[in-house]
Amino acid sequence: MEKKKILEICIGKGFLLDKEMLEYFNKLEIKNVESIIDIFFGLGIKEKIINKKLFDKNIDKFRNLLVIENLEENIDKKGIKLLSTDFNFSKKIEVADFVAHFQSRYEEIKKVLEGKDIDNLISIRRIGINNGIYSIIATVIEKRITKNKNLLIEVEDLTGNSIILINKENTKLFNEAKEMMLDDIVIFRVTGSSDMLFANEIIYPDAFLAEEKYGKLDEYVAFSGDLHIGSKMFLEDNFLKFINWLNGNIGDARQKAIACKIKYLFLTGDNIDGVGIYQDQEKLLNIKSCKGQYNKLEELLKKIRKNVQIIMCPGQHDSVWVGEQQKSIPSKWAPGLHNMENLHLVPNPSLVEINDGFKVLMYHGASINRFIDEISEIRIKYKHNHPTKVVREMLKRRHLAPTHGLMDYVPNRNNDAMTINIIPDIIATADQHRAEVDVYNNILMVASSCWQSITPFEEKVGNTPDPCKVPLFNLKTREIKIIDFSDSHGIKWNEGEDLVCKLK
Ligand SMILES: [Fe+2]
Repeated sequence: MEKKKILEICIGKGFLLDKEMLEYFNKLEIKNVESIIDIFFGLGIKEKIINKKLFDKNIDKFRNLLVIENLEENIDKKGIKLLSTDFNFSKKIEVADFVAHFQSRYEEIKKVLEGKDIDNLISIRRIGINNGIYSIIATVIEKRITKNKNLLIEVEDLTGNSIILINKENTKLFNEAKEMMLDDIVIFRVTGSSDMLFANEIIYPDAFLAEEKYGKLDEYVAFSGDLHIGSKMFLEDNFLKFINWLNGNIGDARQKAIACKIKYLFLTGDNIDGVGIYQDQEKLLNIKSCKGQYNKLEELLKKIRKNVQIIMCPGQHDSVWVGEQQKSIPSKWAPGLHNMENLHLVPNPSLVEINDGFKVLMYHGASINRFIDEISEIRIKYKHNHPTKVVREMLKRRHLAPTHGLMDYVPNRNNDAMTINIIPDIIATADQHRAEVDVYNNILMVASSCWQSITPFEEKVGNTPDPCKVPLFNLKTREIKIIDFSDSHGIKWNEGEDLVCKLK
């Protein structure tokens, strides 16, 4: 952004900026600069030069506008680029924040849907009383089965509401519509009038890449997470075996050859077990403070060779707010982690770029259980055993956790961080404690395993964890391997004599 333009905005409202503030504003989006200056103008203050002191004094009035646009700021010297913003929110959340959050999400997904070149696209308010054929981009706000066993869906866009009927005789569409989640944003192709619409087709925004990305460098990425350090069920010996292998100290010649090519390690949340996460957790902890648990994590991560870049986001057990987007793990709880040169602490979710442009969307996956509850095909057929079946649904919806009320989230007026705006090359999830790899429309989906044996809670809810498995991905060849560290004797390739996992 041109500094001249910023100064024009300020002068237009009777303000000047000092050099430091001009440099800072230069990193923000122009519309946010305009809004901030408007807020200063509205204060009616006598100061005419905005300096850092004045800015900080009033920061709570515009904190949500301080989104850094200049991504160069987020490139660190290791060639890892954080494309997401580490969101900070300190002002009181109001109803208007939720409204703006959902409007922002609607606008983002609408842009994707408009790209599909659909006929007769119209806003709900403009549907007349005469019958016609229309396409509307709408949010599902209610679903119910009628007395005649048809499906009624109440929808809305930014102009109004409508009712769409899906006839039970149209079995394929009926079954598809039954699996819609509240707050899904889709195109409905309909016939009818403003009184009642009848659906003919449902089109999701969906995500696909024209081709699979291949990197130039022969490097591997390892995916893990759910360490749950502090838990009595933390499998420390197995995790140490993984570190030993990563450092090239154990394994056969082939395994060692791969270990030394690992350049990146993604740790996708639940790095510690936390404290007070569920009732009576204390009985299952051998480290009873979050700081103590992070100290232990630091001790273990420092054993990893320094030329492995570790990218870590929080999960629901880490010491950050549970509402998503979760900010990165703060130094208050884990000062030692902040001093590690090869550790990159990022928010959850985060879009991170590595190795010459590979975009990795990492998301711990607190919503995965909600998807399983809501989508009957997954609940009945796949249960908790196939996390990538859920990730496919996220990609289809271009959203990581669509339904209000099912998940904790922090509303953001400018940007719903759970919307998948940029299609990643790889989406890495965790939470289900089971490793699985699959591909959807040229997007690699990697679910990571865990380093914790089954907990009483998992037994109760029917989760079937499969600990100590580490998926590996070669950025140049796209070879995928899952290495198994669960055996007390040796290291196993999880499947395949050729050492390459078969994708379903
Ligand atoms: Fe976990």
